[in-house]
Amino acid sequence: MRILSGIKPSGKLHIGNYFGMMRPALELAQKGEAYYFIADYHAMTTVTDPAKLRSNSLDIALDFLACGLDPSKTVFYRQSDVPQVTELTSILLNLTPVPMLENAHAYKDAIAQGHKPNGGLFTYPVLMSADILIVQGERVPVGKDQKQHLEIARDIAGAFNRQYGEVFVIPEADIQPDVATLPGIDGRKMSKSYNNTIEIFGDEKATRKKVMSVVTDSQPVEAPKTDFDKNIPLQLYKAVATPEKARELQAKLAAGGFGYGDAKKELLATLTDYFAPFRKKREELVKNLDYVQEILRKGAERANVVATETMERVRLAVGLR
Ligand code: ADP
Ligand code: TRP
Repeated sequence: MRILSGIKPSGKLHIGNYFGMMRPALELAQKGEAYYFIADYHAMTTVTDPAKLRSNSLDIALDFLACGLDPSKTVFYRQSDVPQVTELTSILLNLTPVPMLENAHAYKDAIAQGHKPNGGLFTYPVLMSADILIVQGERVPVGKDQKQHLEIARDIAGAFNRQYGEVFVIPEADIQPDVATLPGIDGRKMSKSYNNTIEIFGDEKATRKKVMSVVTDSQPVEAPKTDFDKNIPLQLYKAVATPEKARELQAKLAAGGFGYGDAKKELLATLTDYFAPFRKKREELVKNLDYVQEILRKGAERANVVATETMERVRLAVGLR
């Protein structure tokens, strides 16, 4: 089974990215042949500073490796090192109905917020389809918010196969139902774009400040707090704690005499412990950047082999050869 996923280097990795996408992707990578990449072309819809794009991309590489990506088992590369994806995008655009792109959430949201979207944002789902189809990805571990993009990729792959014959495997999204969407410190979806994230590799003081500012209602310490679904510190705790620990915290909240501040302290401690080994690993990797670049170079080489094969079949199928 071939597995593929990408992550956009558009800012610092947060715990929503980790639990929603990275951890499931790393688990799934054990079960097949995984291709994971840094979606640097995609990041260009928002990152316009070249130095920033460069440093964000390196950060994501470090983050992924620190969080447990095994480069001896997983093909790990930068999207822009496989420029065939842009060629495939050009071809797939001809099989993409404009109304389908007009219906895409990211595009609609940009319009709703009064932005003037550029062509890169408009065709974002087609580039993403090309990422997947170029390596014939069968399973795509992503967070829930990427569901629509996967449906578009399936539609485009199906349209291509109907028009030109069976070339592409139809990809399937792999979405974890229990940690589908992690809330941010303001209660909305945790997202870089909302500035409400808890970073995995952020500095200790900033993390403490963020955890202690997670929104709650204003019930006093004594009150029993049983509205678990609306309790953001508890929701976040459930992501990092064992089920048993999560039940314990729930029981303390329900009993009363246990305030939101106490819950946040437990959250901070558990969160810190959870990510401590990853932080240590990352500190080692930072001292060895040549090793990291070498991993990406080798990954690009391997991804290029597959991409070249796919493109040969595609060119032949459509009549470019
Ligand atoms: P952001 O919204 O912070 O910009 P991205 O869009 O770069 O995050 O998402 C990277 C991956 O992480 C995607 O697969 C996405 O579904 C997942 N993800 C992002 N935010 C969350 C969240 N709050 N909960 C769960 N998964 C998330
Ligand atoms: N659009 C994805 C995100 O914002 C990143 C991405 C780009 C991706 N290409 C992909 C994810 C291909 C899965 C497969 O998170």
